[in-house]
Amino acid sequence: MKADLVVKNIDNLITLKGPSRARTKEEMREIGLIKNGIVAINGDKIIYVGEGELPADIEIDENTLFLDGKGKTVTPGLVDSHTHLVHGGSREHELAMKLNGAKYLDILEAGGGIHSTVSATRKASFDELYRKAKKSLDIMLGYGVTTVEAKSGYGLDDFDTEIKQMGIAKKLDEDHPVDVVSTFMAAHAIPSKYKDNPKEFINIIISEMIPEVAKRNLAKFCDVFCEKGVFTVEESKKILEAGLSHGLLAKVHADEIESLGGAELAAEVGCVSADHLVAASDKGIKMMAEKGVIANLLPATSFNLQANKFAKARKMIEEGVAVSLSTDYNPGSCPTENMQLVMSFASIIMKLTPEEVITAATINGAASLKLEEKIGSIEIGKKADLVIFDAPNLNYIIYHFGINHTDKVVKNGKVVFEKSKHISC
Ligand code: NIG
Ligand code: FE
Repeated sequence: MKADLVVKNIDNLITLKGPSRARTKEEMREIGLIKNGIVAINGDKIIYVGEGELPADIEIDENTLFLDGKGKTVTPGLVDSHTHLVHGGSREHELAMKLNGAKYLDILEAGGGIHSTVSATRKASFDELYRKAKKSLDIMLGYGVTTVEAKSGYGLDDFDTEIKQMGIAKKLDEDHPVDVVSTFMAAHAIPSKYKDNPKEFINIIISEMIPEVAKRNLAKFCDVFCEKGVFTVEESKKILEAGLSHGLLAKVHADEIESLGGAELAAEVGCVSADHLVAASDKGIKMMAEKGVIANLLPATSFNLQANKFAKARKMIEEGVAVSLSTDYNPGSCPTENMQLVMSFASIIMKLTPEEVITAATINGAASLKLEEKIGSIEIGKKADLVIFDAPNLNYIIYHFGINHTDKVVKNGKVVFEKSKHISC
């Protein structure tokens, strides 16, 4: 077969070779490292992965593009499997409030927080929101992210705004090199109109919105903010089960701030992932391990909430829960697109090893999006999504934190980002 693109002389080629499923326990430290590695690509697929030179059956010609991996570390494209990519406005005014001791849930309760982004998102046009989200997607790509999940949830009872957000995610998936996977999350806050009667809003989500989202194929997942003062465990269960009955896979914002039983709920319902889990109970963690629910951890959110509390990632891995990592990019609890910073936080604060971190940010992130057969590792037949890091080894990427180590990003077999063409990122 002919190679269109070859990356060779790679000092450290991290393949993540292994089963096409989320990796657990010690598997999370088996990264399939090849020294002096080489990868060949035809079209948008990987056709060879090995050491040294190409074998004779891989043809090259004058059109084959060669990239030099000397001094570099190459990994699968990073997967950011939890973001609130499409939204209007920003909330920098909350920083001063938080510095003065205001808590995230108090700001929400007082009608700010998510509600202020809801008004900004409702007001913004499709084009405005599209341009803003595209700018963020460009930044994410620059940090080595090749697949992103994007949640709705800033329209709430305004279904047109929810549809607008999911429409933008869909259009970006078509227009932008980064793949965008859409999640329906009208259950993100109780709209002011339904403050005294949340049941009515829940019924609308279940009987009107979910069937329509499924019918129009606007999302792959359904998500709920299961939290004190937002949606109870029972309400979340009803919504997630309604989603499942219409073919929307389940995800849940679980035990982010208060320990409500979100992890247990995720196991009962059969969620693909439970996300946040800062306050997850030991029982919930055990139940997630038994049911194979992925713990999608978001340490940059914990950092930004200034609560000095992070998810018990080590315990989760020891109990056999597969861990993935994401930014949670959103204007309130986590205004950053920087997946590499999240990876450093995961290691420096949550004590994941660099090997566990890269597993969590690639193949386990892919599994959080049910895309583990297609992406998340550098193996023959998988999509040619790679990051070439200007870093001599994996540890260096994690340890030298807060900056961008990306040299080039290859998405679907094409070089779509080159550091040399960007002054800074
Ligand atoms: O994952 N907690 C709920 N949703 C987001 C925050 C959204 C916002 O504050 O706008 C989160 O932290
Ligand atoms: Fe979130």
